[in-house]
Amino acid sequence: MYNYAGKQAIVTGAASGIGKAIALRLSKEGCTVALWDMDADRLQATLRELGEGRGHCAHVVDVSHLDTVKAAFASTTKAWGSAPNVLVNNAGIGRLASILDVTPDEFDRTLDVNVGGTFNCSHVVVPCMRENGGGQIINMASWFGKSGRPNSLAYCASKFAIIGMTQSMAIDLAAHGIRVNAVCPGTIDNTDMRKQADVEAAALGSPPAAERQHLIPLKRLGQPEDIARVVAFLISDEASYMTGQSINVTGGLWMN
Ligand SMILES: NC(=O)c1ccc[n+]([C@@H]2O[C@H](COP(=O)([O-])OP(=O)(O)OC[C@H]3O[C@@H](n4cnc5c(N)ncnc54)[C@H](O)[C@@H]3O)[C@@H](O)[C@H]2O)c1
Repeated sequence: MYNYAGKQAIVTGAASGIGKAIALRLSKEGCTVALWDMDADRLQATLRELGEGRGHCAHVVDVSHLDTVKAAFASTTKAWGSAPNVLVNNAGIGRLASILDVTPDEFDRTLDVNVGGTFNCSHVVVPCMRENGGGQIINMASWFGKSGRPNSLAYCASKFAIIGMTQSMAIDLAAHGIRVNAVCPGTIDNTDMRKQADVEAAALGSPPAAERQHLIPLKRLGQPEDIARVVAFLISDEASYMTGQSINVTGGLWMN
């Protein structure tokens, strides 16, 4: 367990999958969590799982729209009476499509949510962190942000960008006591993104992830909790000398 007393975290994409696991883990460590997501129903279900009475709150927000991000930030700080000192930019989308079949709209939407969302939330939160003397930012990248992968043009572009933003922000914000790191998950099961990818892979004649796990050195798919554990560590003081890093959590599938 880490000492998270006084930590207040915004977690985007927190209604399901990896974001939900991160929110649950941070709450378990004593952190107060604001859940941000587009999916109002699942957001409320996750809030109920976190439990009442600890200051946790939930806000419907599309991270790709700066105005709704500003509104969610205002509601969050009003609910807490103070600003967050942790931001987890986790919300993301992706569809299997190559340069031959991705549509311009799909390309734009992927960049708007994954890259624009990371920008919008950081843009709104960082000034308060700086004013308060520091904080931690975790950006959800992917091993697809380290190597071009088949049928993943827009998604790879977005995740490479997130790693670049992580490094750039880490340099610019270090003097303000703000550490910025990225996590690069491998093939993570039990998320909507995984279910959707399996359906899309089948349409392309490829096997589902479960049938490809023999390719992973640790011989299993990742779970959302595997990612949440690493996020918890990066936020903690145990990682106080780490910034600008993009940590692979892939069971050995990707090592660079
Ligand atoms: N599942 C994997 O194998 C895998 C691998 C590498 C990276 N990732 C990354 O992990 C993150 C979480 O993905 P997941 O696998 O948990 O998928 P998921 O689909 O289960 O969860 C994504 C969440 O983000 C929310 N969301 C989507 N667009 C949003 C928007 N515009 N504004 C606010 N919320 C929005 C969704 O409602 C959902 O709750 C993503 O950034 C994804 O790219 C996932």
